Parts: sequence; C-alpha cells; structure tokens
Amino acid sequence: MTTSTFNIEKCGACLGALVTNIDLTLKLSYQEKISLRAALDQHQVIFFPNQNLTPNHQKNATEIFGPLLPSDTFFEHLNDDPHVEVVINDENNPPIGTAKWHADLTWAKEPPAGTSLYSREIPTGKGDTIWVSMTAAYDSLSERMKQYLEGLKALHSWDMGLGGRQAIFQQGGDHYTKRKNSNPPIAQPLVRTHPRTKQKLIYVNPGFTSHIIDIPRKESDGILSFLYDLAPRPEFQLRHKWDVGTLAVWDNTATQHAAVDDFFPAYRELTRVTFGGHGKPK
Ligand code: SIN
Repeated sequence: MTTSTFNIEKCGACLGALVTNIDLTLKLSYQEKISLRAALDQHQVIFFPNQNLTPNHQKNATEIFGPLLPSDTFFEHLNDDPHVEVVINDENNPPIGTAKWHADLTWAKEPPAGTSLYSREIPTGKGDTIWVSMTAAYDSLSERMKQYLEGLKALHSWDMGLGGRQAIFQQGGDHYTKRKNSNPPIAQPLVRTHPRTKQKLIYVNPGFTSHIIDIPRKESDGILSFLYDLAPRPEFQLRHKWDVGTLAVWDNTATQHAAVDDFFPAYRELTRVTFGGHGKPK
C-alpha cells in the first residue's frame, strides 16, 4: 500500500510489513498516524528500518499505537525512565526468558496492547527475533477443536519457570517475593477475541501459562503442548534479521515472539517501550 508519504509493504506470509520512506524523528500528520495504526492491526508486526532514534523519539513513535505504559518487567529502565527498558544480552545476561515463545506480560490484569523494540547494537548476522501470528494459528484449528477450547481459561504466572526472573531473584529474596506477591497468578481466556480486529486467537504461551483451569492436569498438559507446537511452525511466523536503527512495533495480543539465541556471549542491545489500549482479555 502507498500513502502520500511512506510505503507499507507486506513482508511475511501471515504477518509483518515494512514501512519505508519515513523518518520517525519528524512530526507525522493525523492521517499518517491513522494509516500506521491500521497497518499494525492488519500486519500484527511492522518494521521501520534506517531510523536514528533517541529514547524520546521511540516513545513518541510508540504513542501512535496506544497510550504509553510504564513497564515493570524483567529489564532495567534506561536512565530511570519508567517507560523505557533496555534489553541487554551479553556473557552475563543470556537471553533466558526472551528466547522462549511468549507474549509480553500475559500475567497482568491488562497486558500491553503492544511493544516497540529499537535496535542499538546487534551482533553481525545474529540475534534475530521471530514473531508468530496467533490468529493464523487459531484459524488452522478444526471446528471441533475450536469448540472444545471455547470458554476455557488458563492460569498465567509472573514467575513461571523463573526464566528471566533470575536477575530479580539475585537482588534478594525480599525483592523477589514483593514482585511475585504484587503479580498474583491470573486466569485468562484461552481463546481471545482481538478487541480491535475481532479476530479470534490462541492466548496461551509457554513463557507464562502453567495450566488450563477445571480440566484434569494431564489433559491440560496435552492440550497446551499441542497448542505450543503451533508457534514453532514456520508458516505462521516472520523471522526478522536486525540491523542497527530498526524500530519494530508489534501487536502483543495477536502475536507471540522469541529471540533467537545464537549470539551468546556477544553483546546485543535494544530499547523497549510498551503501550496499552486493549483492556482486560476477554
Ligand atoms: C522481548 O521479548 O521483549 C525481547 C525480544 C528480543 O530480545 O528479541
């Protein structure tokens, strides 16, 4: 699609688009912002290559997609800014939690509607990120399976498996317990209707979902394992090779993502900003 100023070009089979001929340090018109918002609904993850963004530019660009959320996850804040986290991987910080399929903060009452990630330092040719469309994964199910899953709820926990929470654990038991207690496990619908596009999607992920509620545990394990096996299927995925200066913005309701852990112990640094607007999962 071509707008008056920038180009939006689909870059994956079921998700992903590249936005070119745009400089996110400049002011955009109302109409341009509406086009970008619509592009995210349509493509689920969009990429802006060749940018030169400060953290404030990244925040302004992210706000096009929804109100900024102060993020309190497992990453450090950049310069104490509650809206900007810095994702640093190196020999001391392997990508333990991020290399696992997950959507961000599904253990929150109102998980983020989306996230932006801006690449500041990338090991050459390594450290890709993969996104998967959970609407496409849902559409692949049989009608019988869709009926079975409808109405089920699954439990999502902040401290599932401890992956990525080790840094918090190392800050001391009290700190960890406080964080854990302020984020109690939460039941979320297993099938969710996207609040903007009205598409149905699978809303469980191995990063944060422990079990399906009110069915036998072995049945839950089997169903979750079947659903988790959908994310690694290439036909539902888009794999992004980073260059320095690319901003990725994704729909955190419609997708899951995972970092490719092929670069350890090299240094990799990105900044991360989240936005709201999708409300409570239902
Ligand atoms: C994330 O999971 O938010 C970060 C993904 C990445 O490091 O590629």
